[in-house]
Order: sequence, then structure tokens, then C-alpha cells
Amino acid sequence: MVDWISTLEGRRPRCLDLGCGTGSVSERILANLPAARCVGVDYDPILLRVGATALGSVRGRMTWVDADLRSRAWTRRLPRGKFDAVVSSTALHWLTGAELQRLYRQVAGQLRPGGVFLNADQLRFPESSRTLRAAARARRRRDTVGPRPAGALTWSDWWEAIARDPALVTESALRARRFPHEHHGTPTPDLAGHATRMRAAGFREVEVVWADGESRVLAAVR
Ligand SMILES: C[S@@+](CC[C@H](N)C(=O)[O-])C[C@H]1O[C@@H](n2cnc3c(N)ncnc32)[C@H](O)[C@@H]1O
Repeated sequence: MVDWISTLEGRRPRCLDLGCGTGSVSERILANLPAARCVGVDYDPILLRVGATALGSVRGRMTWVDADLRSRAWTRRLPRGKFDAVVSSTALHWLTGAELQRLYRQVAGQLRPGGVFLNADQLRFPESSRTLRAAARARRRRDTVGPRPAGALTWSDWWEAIARDPALVTESALRARRFPHEHHGTPTPDLAGHATRMRAAGFREVEVVWADGESRVLAAVR
């Protein structure tokens, strides 16, 4: 994604990272493009706090924004000015088709003409490709179930440790109110559904620029 951003937008891009979590994508953009700036948006108070503490403001180049991407008005929380690139990684599958359609219009409104939107996620094969779908999922399971490094926590152990951390009591309570149900994925559209919504939102070119099975990066140019 960083390579595509620098190829398309040069080495000083202003980037927006949607569902940034602790900032893993922004961190890579800022490390690889030393004149880049990023704005990260997320609605999880714990991940925002971990990111703002661990990564911080990167000498004024990283800004953290607490906002719900499902809301109509989340863009009002952004600092002013258009972006050269909008990125997102494994975050937008939380949104339904209708929410995505609105989000893609809002994203187009945040980009300057010629700016690029890169969405990295599990962008599903269609129902009709039953065999390839099953194979892609089997490969993903095989690749993600491996031996754990010594001392590494599981996903659920990590969240349990966070819930016991006295420094994060306020964020834990707020998180429980904002996300009352454990995430099991929404009926998010397949790749064609994403691409159709991007075009309907005004993006003029939409193509997959990287893929491994259903893990794909979908690029859209405003
Ligand atoms: C799997 S994490 C990915 C985080 C980061 N992009 C990465 O690649 O490491 C999904 C992120 O989407 C965020 N998210 C889910 N629903 C959201 C919403 N409605 N508004 C903002 N962020 C949301 C979650 O809080 C979480 O940080």
C-alpha cells in the first residue's frame, strides 16, 4: 500500500487511515515516507489510547481522531484540508452495504481529484466461485493457525489483560458501551459489491492492485 501511495501520490502525501486501530498502517507510511503525514480515525477508545501512547504524534506527523465511521458526521471531526490518499486495513468489513455506500461517498469528498483510496481487507469471491472460496478460506486458516511465539498472548488473553489494567478503566467502560456485542462480521458485500459502491461514489478507476486469495487491496482513484 505504501508503494502504491508513493508511486501515485509522491513522497509527501497527506493520508487518512480509516479504522486505524493502534496505527499499524500509518506507522508504516510514516516510517517509509518521512515527509508524509497521517490522520488515523477509530472508534475503539482502547486501541486509540494504545496507539497514541505507543506511536504518539511522530513529531506532529500523526493525528488521532475518535469517531464512528458509521455516523453521518464523522468527517466533521477531521482536521481541515483534502487528502492525497485514504487507506484502510481489515476494518471496513464491520460496515453493512448501506453504511459502506455512504462511507465511500464521504471518502470521495475527502480526497483531492486524482487522490487514491486503498482498501485492504478480506474482499470475498462471489458465491458462484464456491470451490475457490473454500480453498481460499482453508489456506487462510492454515496460515493463521501456527505455533505462537513464546510469551505471546492469544487475542482473548490480550483483551482480558486490558480489562484488568487499572490504567485503562475509563477506556474499557467506554468501549463496552460503544461495542456491546463481540464482533462476528457483518454481511459485507463481496469484491464486486465494494467496487460497484466505489464507482457509484464517484471514483473513476477501481482495480485490485494486490491479492492473495480473498486478501486483496482494492484501489480507487477519485
Ligand atoms: C482488525 S482492526 C484493524 C486495525 C488496523 N487498521 C490494522 O490494520 O492493524 C479493525 C479496526 O476497525 C475499527 N472499527 C470498527 N468499527 C468502526 C467504526 N464504526 N468506526 C471506526 N472504527 C471502527 C476497530 O476499532 C479496529 O480498530
